[in-house]
Amino acid sequence: MKITTPLLIVFEGIDGAGKSTQAALLYAFCRELAKTALLQEPTNSKWGKSIRKILQGELQATTQQMLDLFIHDRAYDVKHNIKPLLHKGYVVIVDRYFYSTAAYQAGDGNSPHDIVRMNCEKGFPVPDRVYFVDIEPEIALTRIDMRSGNNRDIFEKLSELTRIRSNYLSIADSSFCIINGNNSKEAIFDAIQKDFIQHFSDVT
Ligand code: ADP
Ligand code: TYD
Repeated sequence: MKITTPLLIVFEGIDGAGKSTQAALLYAFCRELAKTALLQEPTNSKWGKSIRKILQGELQATTQQMLDLFIHDRAYDVKHNIKPLLHKGYVVIVDRYFYSTAAYQAGDGNSPHDIVRMNCEKGFPVPDRVYFVDIEPEIALTRIDMRSGNNRDIFEKLSELTRIRSNYLSIADSSFCIINGNNSKEAIFDAIQKDFIQHFSDVT
């Protein structure tokens, strides 16, 4: 089987949806077929490190300051990782990208659509496909607590995850493949793999 390259594939969803699990499975599948990289935002840049402190509640920030930090971190990721890898013909899989910013940092005068537009105007590459792992916030919180104990970040509460999920659904366009994240890991990956093969391989 041959895969069309380069490709930019993004995983999105609320915290605890199962994105990282599915991104790792797609990475394992693609790397047998093509040069493949798995990235994650926020990154380990200086902006990413500040973001992580804010997420843990160690530092305070306004929504606007968070928006600026995520945009700086993404500019770093696009310049140093994403664009060079795409130029080398990689399948680049990113666990969170600008749809996260649109869904999480909306409010304070910016709609989710305004934030998508802002990211496109910065010249950040538009993904070939977005796998949106959709899950009930209540189930996501159960999974988060099983993964992290009682160590929740600032967004990991019912009201926030409900707001964020609805923001995501408001920006879902034709590049989105919405996957039911309430299913088993295997069933979810099966759906993603089928969609991926259908869109980006020579198998019809
Ligand atoms: P995310 O990256 O979206 O926050 P993870 O992939 O880290 O989510 O998954 C959160 C937790 O839920 C992990 O402990 C993971 O093993 C578990 N998990 C992931 N997918 C499923 C699933 N489909 N069913 C049950 N548990 C899952
Ligand atoms: P992450 O480790 O990806 O969370 P999880 O695995 O639980 O999904 O943590 C990233 C956190 O940062 C998550 O709460 C979402 C948030 N975030 C934003 O608010 N805006 C963004 O642009 C990005 C990339 C992440």
